[in-house]
Amino acid sequence: MRRTLGFLVALTMPLGVAACTGGHDMADMDDMDDMDMLPEVIDVPPSEGRFETEVAEDLDPSPDVVEVSLEAKVADVELAPGRSVSMWTYNGLLPGPRIEARAGNTVRIRFKNSLPEATTIHWHGIRVPAAMDGVPAVQSPVAPGAEFTYEFVVPDAGTFWYHPHVRSDEQVERGLYGAFVVRDDGEPETTTDRTVVLDDLLVNSDWTLRDFDPMHAMIGRQGNLILTNGRAHPIAAVERGGLHRFRFINAANARYFRLALPGHRLIQIGTDGGLLSAPRELDDLLLVPGERADVLVVATGSEGEALDWKTLRYDRGHGTGELPDAVVFQMRNGDAIPTIPTPPVPTNLAVIPELPEASVQRELRLEESTDGGGPHGGHGSGDSDGMMMVPVFSINGQVYPDAAPLNAQLGTVEEWSIVNTTEMDHPFHLHGFRFQVVSENGEAPGFAAWRDSINIPAEKTVVFRVRLEDHPGTWMFHCHILEHAERGMMGELEVATP
Ligand code: C2O
Ligand code: CU
Repeated sequence: MRRTLGFLVALTMPLGVAACTGGHDMADMDDMDDMDMLPEVIDVPPSEGRFETEVAEDLDPSPDVVEVSLEAKVADVELAPGRSVSMWTYNGLLPGPRIEARAGNTVRIRFKNSLPEATTIHWHGIRVPAAMDGVPAVQSPVAPGAEFTYEFVVPDAGTFWYHPHVRSDEQVERGLYGAFVVRDDGEPETTTDRTVVLDDLLVNSDWTLRDFDPMHAMIGRQGNLILTNGRAHPIAAVERGGLHRFRFINAANARYFRLALPGHRLIQIGTDGGLLSAPRELDDLLLVPGERADVLVVATGSEGEALDWKTLRYDRGHGTGELPDAVVFQMRNGDAIPTIPTPPVPTNLAVIPELPEASVQRELRLEESTDGGGPHGGHGSGDSDGMMMVPVFSINGQVYPDAAPLNAQLGTVEEWSIVNTTEMDHPFHLHGFRFQVVSENGEAPGFAAWRDSINIPAEKTVVFRVRLEDHPGTWMFHCHILEHAERGMMGELEVATP
């Protein structure tokens, strides 16, 4: 039976049946008992210990230069007390060390690849020169044992991140990601300012990573173990009455986090591209793969009170809306009476000038189809009899890397309509430039923001404007569900100097 089910059929089958379609050895069947596609999140008790990520040491004495060294290597990481798992890491850490810089700094990263396969590092959201963007279109991947130095100026303050751009579906899932925070004068005054990298892993009952399986391609590899800064259900201690800033980064392959803190309003002050012009109050915040959001909360409540941040039910298609809410991390009030006054919530944050009318319009249609394992079998089926259908993802009918680049001129303002023709959401990401959303499903977003990652809901259209400024060269755009990107939902934009 396992070889005769089509992919789409498998998704609609009851639990025990769908689990048998993945092409696994009998030895693995024990761990395949639950539904591999939409697994329920494992409940892990909260634990004390490290909450924040480690900062990368600055090896350059000059105040305007940050130099860090990153080594990609296999290491055991403790995801919860007594639960060590072999991961792919930067410097043995999960997440990799947080790179801290100030806007205008030169950042130099001495990178060594000690993994068994080639990799690169992409600086997601940072406007770097194309040659430093860490994608195979501009750089041959760094071979095992080889080194490469990335160097660029970081122009904008904001919450960014880094990850490989080679076989990213597998390399990011194995743990290769880290935060990159750029600060500037005029950061709002808060009691704490923490970076929170969210992820989920798909693990077996002993918490080892499950096999990588083409069956994950359709909805992306959604995990069953939620990690906050590389740990399952850690505790963030907060001072009562304080104004606490959380810089959220969604580093998961496919999971949409819809964040909420029961009994609290969230005050969003930043997006992918730094601070908003004014704060927005929300009950919950949708954070799609690749996206960042800066959020303030006031720690109200009694002394010692423990509250779990949750990710709420969200339907991004193909049954994902059936999954229940899940716990992300815990926020625990201190016992002490607050000794410092709560800083006021800032009102004016940043000036975001509206981009002018565009002189070029483009339409990008996000599409999916299935493939019976014929000529495109190499995109991931692996099944010799070709009976299993594998989804193929495309943009305007082209399956990357068999896709003609789009051609553009430096300095132009363009308007892109991203049309999602499929029955599931796709998080769209553009490299090299930041954009402003003009409309989502025909409606203006109601607030100004710089973005580089944006959700395109199923069967809906999002229009954004982008000025192709500063950096000519080859730039990628793709779905940030990494299984979709690696199976064709990706393209290149060639920006030429006029
Ligand atoms: Cu975060 Cu092209 O990716
Ligand atoms: Cu997608």
